[in-house]
Amino acid sequence: MATRSIPSLKDEVRQFWNSDPCGTRYLEGENEFEAHARARNDLEPHIPEFAQFASAAGLRVLEIGVGMGADYLEWLKAGALATGVDISPASLAKARRRCERAGFHPDLRLADAEHLPFPANTFDIVYSYGVMHHSPETQQCLSEAYRLLKPGGTARIMLYHHPSLTGAMLWLRYGVLGGKSLRRAVYDHLESPGTKSYTKAEVRTMMAGFEDIRIKQVFSPGDLLLNLPSYRFQSWPYRLGWKLYPRFLIRKLARRWGLFLLISARKPMPLLYAIMP
Ligand SMILES: C[S@@+](CC[C@H](N)C(=O)[O-])C[C@H]1O[C@@H](n2cnc3c(N)ncnc32)[C@H](O)[C@@H]1O
Repeated sequence: MATRSIPSLKDEVRQFWNSDPCGTRYLEGENEFEAHARARNDLEPHIPEFAQFASAAGLRVLEIGVGMGADYLEWLKAGALATGVDISPASLAKARRRCERAGFHPDLRLADAEHLPFPANTFDIVYSYGVMHHSPETQQCLSEAYRLLKPGGTARIMLYHHPSLTGAMLWLRYGVLGGKSLRRAVYDHLESPGTKSYTKAEVRTMMAGFEDIRIKQVFSPGDLLLNLPSYRFQSWPYRLGWKLYPRFLIRKLARRWGLFLLISARKPMPLLYAIMP
């Protein structure tokens, strides 16, 4: 589906998140990060159960794509030895400020999910929420997560689901007249350029080396358009659409077309460990 070279697409992705770090529209006044955390909790209430922050006390955690650091701060609060990376310096600066204001010394680094600067078998948990589908080579991001996990370690990853209601709305807006498929509408118009979405079966194929793969599709308040529209959808027709969206019907009929796939999986132990624990 790619129409640009991978380096130039990755530059566009970096620029997109650098000019508008994820969730910026929820920052409010003095206590901006608290407001962001509240909005995130309202819109994605499934995150704490999925991430299992408290289980990470004393463990080495790598968060790939920290954005403004909402989840990264939770790892620190839980007592994890947490390292975070992102490709966007502006996002990292905000994440750093957030953690320092909360009294922590974060280990945050500028790095690309497709080529991470850590030795193999380093982390007990690799967590990445809503990141890898933005990177041109999503499969390479998953391979890096696998490489960096210790044997027996756990990956917890959120990727966008196909098909989704969000994709269908983008298709109605841009796909019908533009002759684009649902996936192409997502690729061109959902957040940063080149965003991908996956079926559960595709995720299983991409994660073939992992074991105990569990995938849960989540229908969230965002699917009900209870989020704030991004800067791209601020004109009055969009705002009206946001108001008139038939939430009751959507809630009843569209649960299988939520945007999020919550994926957890384990890196297998080498055979020798399995025989002689
Ligand atoms: C939708 S935001 C999610 C941020 C955070 N995980 C959250 O849930 O708020 C996507 C993030 O992924 C980062 N990102 C995209 N491609 C990346 C890559 N190849 N390597 C590292 N980070 C990347 C972006 O800079 C951005 O901060």
